[in-house]
Amino acid sequence: MSNVYNVAVVVGSLRKASINRKVALALAELAPANLKLEIVEIGDLPLYNEDIDGDSPPAAYSTFREKVGSSDAVLFVTPEYNRSVPAPLKNAIDVGSRPYGKSVWSRKPGAVISVSPGAIGGFGANQHLRQSFVFLDVPCMQQPEAYLGGAGSAFDEAGKLSESVKPFLQSFINAYGQFVEQHKK
Ligand SMILES: Cc1cc2nc3c(=O)[nH]c(=O)nc-3n(C[C@H](O)[C@H](O)[C@H](O)COP(=O)(O)O)c2cc1C
Repeated sequence: MSNVYNVAVVVGSLRKASINRKVALALAELAPANLKLEIVEIGDLPLYNEDIDGDSPPAAYSTFREKVGSSDAVLFVTPEYNRSVPAPLKNAIDVGSRPYGKSVWSRKPGAVISVSPGAIGGFGANQHLRQSFVFLDVPCMQQPEAYLGGAGSAFDEAGKLSESVKPFLQSFINAYGQFVEQHKK
């Protein structure tokens, strides 16, 4: 039997009705057989502060680090806030990156999909996230790039994914399955 890789999915929006969360859940449904996607929550992480970290960090920091640290790969599904990465997502990245030398992100094969009702699909957030990956040593899937614009109509009122968006998400997650496989060999 081939390997199944656990993918920690980090969603950059905290909204209950988040389109990004819906996309993350849709990707979990569409994922190829070698990927098991699970959302790791970031909404209860205190703002990163070295003064409260160290020997006895907040429980939320420890839980988050354990969940990401024990995963095989990391997938980011994020909106764009003011042409950049939403603060809760950047905070989660910072929490996972410490203590220094014990980053949970290191060498985990990653990918980004940015999702926005706007026309340019969160391009700024997508690119800024990749900048952090360089320092975090996250090998990131380069192609296909995934900017889902006009996402206000990606799901109907019942929460069903539009048939016109489905192939785009399917090809993205299939490519990521291959990318993870290559990196884990
Ligand atoms: C503080 C803030 C800043 C935003 N900045 C941008 C932006 O720069 N580009 C963009 O396309 N949308 C921007 N938006 C709109 C978001 O794309 C939109 O709220 C989106 O639905 C958020 O994703 P969600 O549905 O997963 O919460 C912004 C929204 C907020 C609340």
